[in-house]
Amino acid sequence: MPMTDPLWYKDAVFYEVHVKAFFDGNDDGIGDFPGLTQKLDYLQWLGVNCIWLLPFFPSPLRDDGYDVADYLGVFADYGTLEDVRRFLDEAHRRGMRVIADLVLNHTSDQHPWFLESRSSPQSPKREYYVWSDTDKKYEKARIIFIDTEKSNWTWDPVAQAYYWHRFFSHQPDLNYDHPDLRRAMLDVLSFWLDQGLDGFRCDAVPYLFEREGTICENLPETHAYLKEVRKRIDEAYRGRILLAEANQWPADVRPYFGDGDEFHMAFHFPLMPRLFMGLRSEDWHPIVDMFIHTPPIPETCQWCLFLRNHDELTLEMCSGEERDYMYYAYARDPQMRRNIGIARRLAPLLDNDRRRIELLNSLVFTLPGSPIIYYGDEIGMGDNVHLGDRNGVRTPMQWSADRNGGFSKADAAALYLPVIADSLFGYQTANVEAQQQTPHSLLHWMRRLIAVRKRHRAFGRGTIEFLRPRNEKVLAYLRRHGEDVLLLVHNLAGSAQAVELEIRQFKGAVPIELFGESRFPAVGEAPYMLSLAPYGYYWFQLQRTTAGEPTYGIEDSLI
Ligand code: NOJ
Repeated sequence: MPMTDPLWYKDAVFYEVHVKAFFDGNDDGIGDFPGLTQKLDYLQWLGVNCIWLLPFFPSPLRDDGYDVADYLGVFADYGTLEDVRRFLDEAHRRGMRVIADLVLNHTSDQHPWFLESRSSPQSPKREYYVWSDTDKKYEKARIIFIDTEKSNWTWDPVAQAYYWHRFFSHQPDLNYDHPDLRRAMLDVLSFWLDQGLDGFRCDAVPYLFEREGTICENLPETHAYLKEVRKRIDEAYRGRILLAEANQWPADVRPYFGDGDEFHMAFHFPLMPRLFMGLRSEDWHPIVDMFIHTPPIPETCQWCLFLRNHDELTLEMCSGEERDYMYYAYARDPQMRRNIGIARRLAPLLDNDRRRIELLNSLVFTLPGSPIIYYGDEIGMGDNVHLGDRNGVRTPMQWSADRNGGFSKADAAALYLPVIADSLFGYQTANVEAQQQTPHSLLHWMRRLIAVRKRHRAFGRGTIEFLRPRNEKVLAYLRRHGEDVLLLVHNLAGSAQAVELEIRQFKGAVPIELFGESRFPAVGEAPYMLSLAPYGYYWFQLQRTTAGEPTYGIEDSLI
């Protein structure tokens, strides 16, 4: 992929990683930038195009770095600014880009701005945060972290006032009505882009402004500010991107793309649980319905599709009935539940069933959008539901069967979190080294998936048409880009299925299966008949041939 294409993110494969979790370069038990830099060859080998780094800024780590105490620094255990620059250079040298979290909505209560703000009503930073004499304002706003928070207001004994927070009570919300604050955050953005970052995953964007009588989400003022942020990118940093974390219904996410003048990308949150639902219920309706409710987006924009990330598998964009179904299907043990969601990794969610892991990955790699892989899921890493908060899915990357999974040479007790060590998902079994040595491993399969996807722009840029076969267990769709026509077929069922596809419009075309390059019988007048193994899938390119028999090799060509 040329590093000069301003629309690079439309074809890119993303990889989400936490610096602390990837590789420990100085043997202190915590991953760091020098360690991450050492592992860039691995990510290049895997074929990812863009790395998303979770927050790596100074922080008391009460929300794993989403509680920022200094926007312009680097958390000392992760390295120095120099280490970050070296890492960015090395990633770029390998043709990879790097985006990082920009936590716009709130800071840590240890941020100097907050300390100053709370110190006195006369403080010049007072208005950087949202203060009130009463906790009865903005009552329509929901509480997001329902496991720990009872209110969005917390009394501050120092300030003798309540402050507003949408997340943990130690994360006061910034006040975007204040022009100095708005400018300060734009400077933060420029600072990191000047260091060489290729963009940002913008955290919690729906909540920037508060207005009485509203739910304080997705307000017009929020969009106006985010357009200013985009303007800064377009003016001085072309080719860099903004990716929105807006856990909302597609109709409410759509405005975050603006007219191509707000975000380049946004996660598709509601699709994610429906992939799991479609699989469990062996029915394509939940998935196709979600696309019916997904409005078109500007051509320069892109969805970001994911199966898992560092948070719980969120069920916020689900009905009560759907939630119950998801808990029943994927989190019977209450220990697996966090807030409104399920804190588990992909492989355990799917009972470590390689066929289902492949199937869901195949969906996020072929539906409209750019896929993102959560670190460790490419080797089927497990989780530890007994760790608090969402830590169970943030354990050290498993590199080998060596001590601490090859992640660190420190004493096991010094690791920031224990490595997964159970007999099914533990580092002794699930690790990069072993899977690199096994040609049919999940890791090799993921690498191939990435490589095959990259051969066709239709995956990132093509149109989508769902075929809606009568067999509701088989999800089939076409992706088209120019002359390139791809046919994707997925058996959501745990039993073999036959399906008839109405594709006679491609009569004469020969489906070429993209992983093995094998030719299938040409499409004729009758419905195209396929049989699929349990959880089987096909990626076809429909190759139009000139009339007559398809030719093979050099036959019929001019020699
Ligand atoms: C969303 C992040 O993904 C999550 O990890 C964090 O706790 C909240 N935003 C608050 O910043």
